[in-house]
Amino acid sequence: MSNASSIRCLITAGPTREFIDPVRFLSNPSTGKMGYALAEAAVAAGWTVDLVAGPVALKEPNNVILYPVVSAEEMFHHVDALFDACDVLIMAAAVSDFRPVQQHAQKQKKEKASMSIEFERTVDILKAMAQRKAHQTVVGFAAETDNVDASAHAKLEAKRCDWIVANKVGEAGTGFAADTNKVTLIAADGSSLKIGPTTKAAIAKELIQLITPSAT
Ligand code: CTP
Repeated sequence: MSNASSIRCLITAGPTREFIDPVRFLSNPSTGKMGYALAEAAVAAGWTVDLVAGPVALKEPNNVILYPVVSAEEMFHHVDALFDACDVLIMAAAVSDFRPVQQHAQKQKKEKASMSIEFERTVDILKAMAQRKAHQTVVGFAAETDNVDASAHAKLEAKRCDWIVANKVGEAGTGFAADTNKVTLIAADGSSLKIGPTTKAAIAKELIQLITPSAT
């Protein structure tokens, strides 16, 4: 990789929605702010950016190629199609781990609806991409409420990432929806670096610098 403009980065952002019927879905509180901040920081660093984003209420960043998606399955198909051409994958999206086995085409009337819903696992996009990586740098996120760094270390190993960004959720000023964040960037060799608390834009800028693939 000779210069920044030759780096192609694939970033995922936001939540996914797994529909039960046309008016109900399973999702999470992700707003996409961290992923979008990373996309903007990557563009500012001169990278080419493909952004695969779940449903968010954010302005499209300038100079990215945006692929809007809804479900984990759709996100997987886009990432799967774009991965081989990218140099860096950053999975900042909060991908739903489960989806209803049955998605009803019609709204389920409450009087008749079953009170139990059977779920199945969605594909682990990060793990699937890391398994087939060639030259790519693969960066995951770990959203945790407790044992943050230990759980993130375990996730880095299980998913065979090059880096993982450990992110505490459920605390004011960090995680979902906040404009600020506090993360730990963990490398494959186990070394780690704490970043923040600061704005998601400042964290994104530092993360992009730190994960930049070294010139070959
Ligand atoms: N991820 C993914 N595909 C999924 C679920 C998660 O690619 N189906 C990615 C996320 O984008 C993130 C990383 O995996 O980069 C970790 O996500 P997280 O929700 O923290 O962990 P999980 O793998 O879902 O594990 P657990 O729910 O047990 O904490």
